[in-house]
Amino acid sequence: MFRAISALGLLSAALFISSSQVQAGSKVDWGKINPRLNGATSSGSIKGCLDCHEDYIKSFARTKHAQFYKKKLGKSLLESCESCHGPMSAHVAEPDFAKKGAATVSFKTISPQQKNRICQQCHEKQVTLHWRGSAHEMANVSCDKCHYVMARKSKRQLSINEDSKKACFTCHQDKRARMLRSAHMPLRENKMSCASCHNPHGSLAPNLLIKASLNETCYICHQEKRGPMLWEHAPVREDCSSCHDSHGSNHLSMLKLKQPYLCQTCHSNVFHPSTLFDATELPGGAGTARRDILGKSCLNCHSRIHGSNHPSGVRFTR
Ligand code: HEC
Ligand code: HEC
Ligand code: HEC
Ligand code: HEC
Ligand code: HEC
Ligand code: HEC
Ligand code: HEC
Ligand code: HEC
Ligand code: HEC
Ligand code: HEC
Repeated sequence: MFRAISALGLLSAALFISSSQVQAGSKVDWGKINPRLNGATSSGSIKGCLDCHEDYIKSFARTKHAQFYKKKLGKSLLESCESCHGPMSAHVAEPDFAKKGAATVSFKTISPQQKNRICQQCHEKQVTLHWRGSAHEMANVSCDKCHYVMARKSKRQLSINEDSKKACFTCHQDKRARMLRSAHMPLRENKMSCASCHNPHGSLAPNLLIKASLNETCYICHQEKRGPMLWEHAPVREDCSSCHDSHGSNHLSMLKLKQPYLCQTCHSNVFHPSTLFDATELPGGAGTARRDILGKSCLNCHSRIHGSNHPSGVRFTR
């Protein structure tokens, strides 16, 4: 009997913790962000705000957030404002128009960390689980660099831009240049996005990759490269990026170097003469610069470069 009760107690304690976490998230101390909000309370009705902020209220009401707040959290419009801008009583009570701004929380003046804490009241799970300590958090990037919450600027994810890549390009300009190279994955055709491989909110893998390792990330879409193969090519198993530039290149199949240079970064002294000078000896081999670009060079014979399942494919020739 005693055991049953304590087990029940434990169970309900566990339930209590999990449900309270879901509802509340971590709280924000508004008084710490802006001392004017110490002791402030919810101000009453959104109608009073319309006089001065009609545009913002209307545009916010059309966002997905406003709908989620209502449906999922049961929040009124005013409670919604207060969940990001703090309790409003001080703002409403302030008689001096010029001082009104200082009596609320404005995203123009608070730090990136404070902004992030405000959003994280409700977003510390799922996609944003690993935000803390992520490369972006450490670099003082805040949620509002990529998301706009006051009006609907995109159909999905409250993105500041219909095309989420453009948010990334404001800081990662080199990646836009790479994407424009001749060999690329269909990002600029809008069939993929940076988020196909990266979680900009943080991840357990290096380089904010969405899977545990680089290769696992590639296997999401290129399953046939996973194997297992009878004859494995070591660098393929290890790291796709030893040969490919994931963001685009001007060589065949997004390779980092053209043939035969690529292979020769690792195979300089091999069974048959395949140094740059000797390679012309090989039928369909490396040869002149022209053929390097058009021809497949080493791949003419070693065509199963990602590994082979043929009993005699040990040299990846079949
Ligand atoms: C009498 C006019 C008036 C009323 C009523 C009023 N505000 Fe304001 N509000 C202002 C002024 C002025 C500012 C400062 C604007 C600025 O600095 O650009 C401001 C600023 C704000 C800001 C900060 C904006 C930012 O990020 O810089 C928020 C949020 C806000 N008001 C919400 C509300 C809400 C919610 C209500 C209703 C409870 C309300 N206001 C009622 C005049 C008003
Ligand atoms: C999810 C959080 C969130 C909610 C909810 C929210 N705001 Fe904002 N608000 C922001 C952020 C972030 C900005 C800064 C936007 C930017 O990047 O310019 C902002 C900016 C503003 C501004 C100032 C814009 C400017 O440039 O002067 C006003 C006014 C404002 N909000 C009022 C409101 C009102 C009124 C509501 C409720 C109807 C509301 N906000 C709900 C996050 C929020
Ligand atoms: C560097 C840009 C960037 C920053 C900073 C950023 N996000 Fe995002 N966020 C994105 C992109 C891109 C997506 C779309 C992801 C996808 O398509 O899978 C997204 C999606 C989301 C989603 C929707 C996830 C879903 O399941 O559909 C939420 C919620 C979100 N972000 C919250 C946040 C919060 C909270 C912060 C700040 C702590 C933040 N974001 C910071 C770029 C960013
Ligand atoms: C009061 C809680 C709350 C706060 C604060 C909040 N959000 Fe949200 N947000 C939600 C809910 C609820 C959803 C619906 C999705 C869900 O249930 O995960 C959502 C969804 C989103 C989405 C996905 C929208 C889509 O199209 O699917 C993004 C992006 C997002 N929030 C960003 C932010 C940012 C940025 C901030 C801070 C400026 C913020 N949120 C603050 C509750 C909140
Ligand atoms: C406001 C500027 C800004 C925006 C917008 C931005 N980033 Fe970043 N990003 C940074 C900074 C700063 C770093 C850290 C750079 C460093 O440490 O060298 C970084 C680092 C990264 C890294 C490397 C992480 C690591 O572990 O080294 C990746 C991947 C990345 N960003 C992807 C993205 C993607 C995808 C987007 C768009 C959804 C995006 N970024 C938008 C500023 C930004
Ligand atoms: C097909 C998967 C894939 C896509 C799509 C992708 N990346 Fe990457 N990204 C990677 C991999 C893998 C790395 C690891 C290092 C490397 O191979 O360059 C990386 C590394 C990075 C880095 C950190 C290292 C560096 O080169 O500075 C940044 C920043 C980055 N990516 C930004 C972006 C942006 C912005 C986009 C969208 C335009 C994007 N990535 C799209 C796979 C991808
Ligand atoms: C979200 C899906 C997705 C992910 C993840 C992905 N790819 Fe791709 N990849 C594609 C698509 C789609 C194509 C275009 C296929 C086509 O045109 O037939 C492509 C094409 C390629 C090509 C051939 C490009 C050319 O010019 O012919 C290479 C090489 C490649 N991917 C390597 C990688 C590597 C390396 C990774 C991991 C860093 C990766 N992919 C992750 C979807 C993906
Ligand atoms: C040893 C260098 C090397 C490594 C490592 C490598 N590849 Fe490749 N990959 C190539 C070469 C060379 C081609 C061009 C093949 C051709 O034209 O016949 C290619 C072509 C591709 C293509 C486009 C043609 C096709 O076969 O579908 C994809 C997709 C691809 N690689 C994905 C990957 C993935 C995913 C990985 C990691 C698991 C990877 N590669 C690792 C050398 C490599
Ligand atoms: C990043 C280094 C690297 C690159 C680039 C590379 N390889 Fe390899 N390759 C290896 C390693 C390591 C082995 C395994 C050697 C062993 O087991 O002794 C291997 C094995 C081979 C084998 C089988 C040889 C044997 O001894 O079993 C062939 C054939 C081969 N590679 C051809 C190529 C070709 C063709 C290219 C260019 C498309 C290429 N490799 C690019 C590292 C590389
Ligand atoms: C004309 C076809 C052909 C071309 C072109 C060719 N190879 Fe080979 N290669 C072969 C054959 C066949 C073997 C296996 C010989 C054997 O197993 O007895 C081989 C073996 C190898 C081996 C294994 C050698 C060892 O020491 O065990 C490597 C590594 C290799 N080739 C790399 C390359 C590279 C790099 C290139 C481009 C510079 C290249 N091959 C071009 C046909 C070719």
